[in-house]
Amino acid sequence: MDSVCTISQTPIIPQAEQPVNAFLQNVVIGTPCPPGNTSNVSEGLKGVPQGKCSVGDTTAQTHEVTASKVLAIIASYSVVFEKHSSSWDAVHDFLPVVTDQIASGAPVRMILPGFPFKESSKNLVLGPLPDLGEELALAHLQGLCDNISAIYENGADITIYLMGVSGEAAWEYGEALRAMAARNELHNIKFIRLWDLLEHPGCCFDRDNQKKAKAYYLEHATCIRRELMYRYGDADFDANAAIRTDKDWATTHAVYSSVLARKDTESPESLASQMIPRGKAYGAALRANLPDYVRLSIHDSAGKGKFSLALIPQEKGSVGLMPWRSSIAVDADGSYRAVYPDQVRETHELIYKGEQPYFFRVKSDLFDWSSLGLQVDFEHLYPCGIIIRPVNRSPSMRLIPMNKVRQLSNNFSPVVLRGFSETLEEDVWVQKGHELGKILNWALTGTIFKVVNTRDDSKMANNVTSNEPLPMHFDGIFKFEDREDQVTGEVKKVLSPPGYQYFTCLATAPKGDGYTLFCNSRLFFRFLPASWTLERLEPVTWEMTNDGFWSNVHKNLPLIVRHPITNAPCLRWHSPWNGEKTKYSTYKIVIENEEQSLVQLIEKLTYDFRVCLRFSWEKGDLLVNDNVSMLHTRTSYTSNCDREMWRIHLD
Ligand SMILES: [Fe+2]
Repeated sequence: MDSVCTISQTPIIPQAEQPVNAFLQNVVIGTPCPPGNTSNVSEGLKGVPQGKCSVGDTTAQTHEVTASKVLAIIASYSVVFEKHSSSWDAVHDFLPVVTDQIASGAPVRMILPGFPFKESSKNLVLGPLPDLGEELALAHLQGLCDNISAIYENGADITIYLMGVSGEAAWEYGEALRAMAARNELHNIKFIRLWDLLEHPGCCFDRDNQKKAKAYYLEHATCIRRELMYRYGDADFDANAAIRTDKDWATTHAVYSSVLARKDTESPESLASQMIPRGKAYGAALRANLPDYVRLSIHDSAGKGKFSLALIPQEKGSVGLMPWRSSIAVDADGSYRAVYPDQVRETHELIYKGEQPYFFRVKSDLFDWSSLGLQVDFEHLYPCGIIIRPVNRSPSMRLIPMNKVRQLSNNFSPVVLRGFSETLEEDVWVQKGHELGKILNWALTGTIFKVVNTRDDSKMANNVTSNEPLPMHFDGIFKFEDREDQVTGEVKKVLSPPGYQYFTCLATAPKGDGYTLFCNSRLFFRFLPASWTLERLEPVTWEMTNDGFWSNVHKNLPLIVRHPITNAPCLRWHSPWNGEKTKYSTYKIVIENEEQSLVQLIEKLTYDFRVCLRFSWEKGDLLVNDNVSMLHTRTSYTSNCDREMWRIHLD
C-alpha cells in the first residue's frame, strides 16, 4: 500500500566473524516498497560475501540475501537484539529455512506458541476474553509480517499455536482471538490448536460448524493432552535438573512461578516445575510437525533455535507480561504498558468497551468531555493515535473542546474525531480552528490549503495536489523566523515550523488506497538500535538541498528538537527524495557530523510498522496532529478519485 522504496544499500549476509548486531544495523528493517519491486535487491549483490551458493548462482544468492534481510527484520523484534548480545544462533539457524521458503516463492512462515487462555484471577486480568492487550499484541505481530512484506513480495504470516487445552474458557478465548484478528483485518495472522498438530479428527470440522467443533473439543480435551505427552513427551526428561542447568528453562520456570504466586496458588514453584515437561512436549510437537517454520517465542531465551519477542514492547530487552496474564495501562505519554491491575488502580481509570472491561487509562480531565454534554469513546490505535467518537448520535463539531484536543495531540497524535456533524462546513471548521490555536497564514495559500486531487500528474502540476507519494516530513521546512541570541545579541534565522496541523476530510481515495502515514518520535527512539542513543543523536545536524520552487540549501538543521510542551525528544527530518521518486521538487539530505548510514537507518525506521501509523481516512473526519512530535507523509493513490482534504496550520 506504500510506494516509497529506498532499498539501495549493499546487503550484508551475516558471517560468523561479524557481530550480529553490526549486521542488524546495516540491513533493511522494513522500508516499504511496492509489491514485486525487488530489483534493487539483486543490484545490491555486488560485493556480497558468498554464502552457500556457488559463484554466479545469482538466483540462489538473491534468495539468501532476501532471507538475510527477512531474518534481520524478525531479529529486530527480538529481545536478544535489544539486549545487544554479541552472538546469536537463531539468525544463522533459520537462514536455510527462510532461504528455502523464498526460493519456493512461499510466504515466510513463522510459528508462535502462546495465547492459551485468559487467566481467571482478577489479580492478573480484567476478564476471560481478549481485550486491548490482545489487540495490541496481534497488531504488533501483523506489523512484523507487514515489515517483511515491504521487502519480500510474497510476504509473511504468523501462525499462533493456541496452547490452551483446558476446557470451555480456553476454547472461547481462542475463538474470540480469531474473531478479533478478522475484525481488525489482520490478514497474516493464523491460528492452530494442538489437535491440528496431532491431526486429531476434531480439527477437521468445518469452521462454520463451531457448535459441533466446540462440543467435540471439550469432550476430547483430556485425551488430546494425554496424546501430546504420549507422542512427544520425554520420559527421561528431568525438569528440576533442566531448571538448574538450562538458562532458558530456568527463565520459563521463573515466569510460571511468578504467575502462580500472584494467583495465590499453593507451592507455585513446585507446580511450575510440573508444567515444564508439557512445555517441552509442545516444543517437540512443533519441531516434528512444522520444521520449516521460523520459531517465535514469548519466553526469554539465549537466542538459540527461536526468536524471543515482546508482544507488547515496553522496557528494552524484556518480553514483559503476556496479554493473557495482565491488563493494559495507557499512560499519559501515549504509551501502552502490560501491568497487573493493582499496579494502576489508583492512577488509572478502568475503561470498558461495551460491557467488557477492556483496559486502564491514566486519569486525566482530557478524556472527560461530559461537562460539554458530550459522551465520547476513545479508541487507542496501534502503534499510535486515537479515534474519538460520540457514543450515541452525531453531535455538532461545535461542541468539541478544542483545547483538550490540542493537549491530547501532544502525546496521542494523530487525534481523529469521527462521527461529528458539520465537519464539512467551512465556516464552522475555521471557527473551531481558532479555538485550537493561532491560525497561520501562508504567502501562497492563505490560511486554508485545500489538498485536492487535481488529476493532473504533469510536470506543471504540484506534488501535493498530484497523486504522487510524498517524502516523510514535517510541515514548514521552509518557515524560518529571526531569533536573537540571548548572549551575543546576534539575530539568526531559525527554523520555526507550525506546531499543529488541523484537517477535515471532504473525500477519500478508495478503501485501501491513499493512506496518510504518521511517524511517532517516541516510538522511533524506542526502536532505535542500541548503539544510536539519544545522547549520540542530539548533537547531529543535517543539510537539505532542494531544487523546487523554493530552490534552497539549508544547513545546520538539528536532527532532534525538544517538544515545547512535553520536552520529549522529537525527530526533525525530511526524507531524501530524488528524481526517480518525483517529477517535482527533489531533496538531497546530508548528515553533517555523523555517519551517513544514519540517513538509511532513519528512512527505514520512520516507515517501520512499530513506529508509523497507516491511517485510512473517512469522509467527515477531523484530524489534529502535533507537527513537532510527529512526522507524516502520504502514499500514492489512484488518480481517478476525488480525494480532498482541507488543512490549517496553527501555533
Ligand atoms: Fe505535510
